[in-house]
Amino acid sequence: MQFADIHNHMLFGVDDGAKTEAEMYQIIDDSYADGVRHLCFTPHYHPGYFGEHQAQIEAAFALAQAYCAERYPDLQLFLGNELRYERSCIDWLEQGRCQTLNGTEYLLVDFLYPEPAENILDAMLRVLNAGYTPVLAHVERYEKFHRDLREIDRLKDWGVILQVDAQSLLGGLGHGSKVRARRLLDAGAVDLIASDAHDLKSRPPQLRPCYDFVSRKYGEDYAQHLFWEEPLRIIQSK
Ligand SMILES: [Fe+2]
Repeated sequence: MQFADIHNHMLFGVDDGAKTEAEMYQIIDDSYADGVRHLCFTPHYHPGYFGEHQAQIEAAFALAQAYCAERYPDLQLFLGNELRYERSCIDWLEQGRCQTLNGTEYLLVDFLYPEPAENILDAMLRVLNAGYTPVLAHVERYEKFHRDLREIDRLKDWGVILQVDAQSLLGGLGHGSKVRARRLLDAGAVDLIASDAHDLKSRPPQLRPCYDFVSRKYGEDYAQHLFWEEPLRIIQSK
């Protein structure tokens, strides 16, 4: 089984992910060993918090490409951002300060975890109206968004892509996230699963344990859709 991981923080020195070049290579090694063959790096873009590091992002990406070309010729690398939603984020995109997933129409967007559900719905509409398709990062982590499945159903109707973190499903990001992630999977509402890897230990790149869990509990077809077919479709949709 192979995976496409389109949400992670493996590029070093640009956010709260990998801190050094060596750590970046180790995380990539682990990711490849786990079965990842398409990897889209998504450094946080959050002005005023992580700052703007476009030059460093490009430099780290070039190093990752050179490293992988030599060792992992069947690993394909791509670039995007995880954009913290603000009203001006569409301007940032159009000014070239941040980017969609591999230059496609798909935009990985996140929010603060206590964000009210109404704000998330409003933001998703704004992104859609600007001509982008939002990929809502770790949908299970927004606690106010899960009173019932009505808000989730609205997002699905609008075509928003719902992404869950692998670690959430196995309980590594707290009980609440685990319960909410499993409820979404029970409802068949999840579109894709990604690692959201930040390091080797506390937020590791492994997808396989989660793939095995999903495959056992929900069937292999759904697991393949979540870990391979859907992220691949998005990244290749240019
Ligand atoms: Fe992330």
